[in-house]
Amino acid sequence: MNVLITGGAGYIGSSVSHYLLDKGHQVTIIDNLSTGSIKNIPKKATFHKIDISNRKKLNKIFNKKKYDIVFHFAALINNEESIEYPKKYFENNFIKAKIFIENCIKNKVNKFIYSSTAAVYGNKNKQVNERDDLKPMSPYSKSKLKLENFLIKKKKDIRCIILRYFNVAGSDKKLRCGFNVKKGHNLILNLCNAVFKKKIFIINGGDYNTKDGTTIRDYIHVEDLAKIHLLSANLILKKKMFKILNCGYGYGFSVKEILKKFNLISKNKVNYKIGKRRKSDIVISISNPKKLIKLTNWKPKYNDLSYLLKSSLDWYKKNI
Ligand SMILES: NC(=O)c1ccc[n+]([C@@H]2O[C@H](COP(=O)([O-])OP(=O)(O)OC[C@H]3O[C@@H](n4cnc5c(N)ncnc54)[C@H](O)[C@@H]3O)[C@@H](O)[C@H]2O)c1
Repeated sequence: MNVLITGGAGYIGSSVSHYLLDKGHQVTIIDNLSTGSIKNIPKKATFHKIDISNRKKLNKIFNKKKYDIVFHFAALINNEESIEYPKKYFENNFIKAKIFIENCIKNKVNKFIYSSTAAVYGNKNKQVNERDDLKPMSPYSKSKLKLENFLIKKKKDIRCIILRYFNVAGSDKKLRCGFNVKKGHNLILNLCNAVFKKKIFIINGGDYNTKDGTTIRDYIHVEDLAKIHLLSANLILKKKMFKILNCGYGYGFSVKEILKKFNLISKNKVNYKIGKRRKSDIVISISNPKKLIKLTNWKPKYNDLSYLLKSSLDWYKKNI
């Protein structure tokens, strides 16, 4: 298939692009490189450095080639930054994305895979399923949900699978692409920095109502997620449908559990401190992936915490 990918210079978009090319598909990437890196982009992909809201340049791209499907990854994803700059997130992740989707439809491309987030559920003390009520807590997650709702309104005219990712981690096996080591912001990157840059690892809150007082997350390896994209695309290419699917393994690890495993993998003892809780942080985020498994027949392959941490660490060491 011939795929148009937005945000393909970023962490997940580039991993999916490599995966699709490995499987013999054609990939065109559009990215404004605001947070992504040109180094992540596969050599075999066609690349256009443009903003998703640039109608003129997009029309040119659509006039050159026919696309079977669009994978929409492009977004700003820093939860904490979104609290400081809510408008920036609303504009980039919703207004610009809306312009982009409308432009695709105008150019007769009406099949979409949209990268949404588990953060749309807000705080739930249980495994969440797709029918649970939604309570996004930050401008970031609100902007992601706004686009979900926009796509739902277009249901009649489009085929679409909304993928709600839980915490994405790990890197491409061949270490061709990965998360932003210099500017990224996630738990595993902070652990890597603690080891290699001798920084103190801060646990954001140690008094939550969980087994050890720290927050719990469902981590999914980026290569498993890449496969989910291909399976989802195959489904909507065959049949008209509109689905929302959770993407996670169905169980979570606390920050302290990750820290303990990371010490073993990195053969180090991370120096840590319990800090303040973060604003709008979710306490427990665990998926119920039954619907995804039933619909796509997906079988997780990299659902091993040691492998997931090692694969993140390997990428970090290569790019530090
Ligand atoms: N990383 C996670 O754990 C996670 C979890 C849930 C959902 N998601 C979603 O997955 C998607 C990809 O996340 P990621 O971790 O790869 O982030 P990333 O920051 O690595 O990649 C995002 C890419 O989009 C590009 N971009 C942003 N705004 C753009 C615009 N207006 N025009 C063109 N390009 C633009 C950036 O330059 C970057 O290359 C996002 O939609 C995010 O909301 C990520």
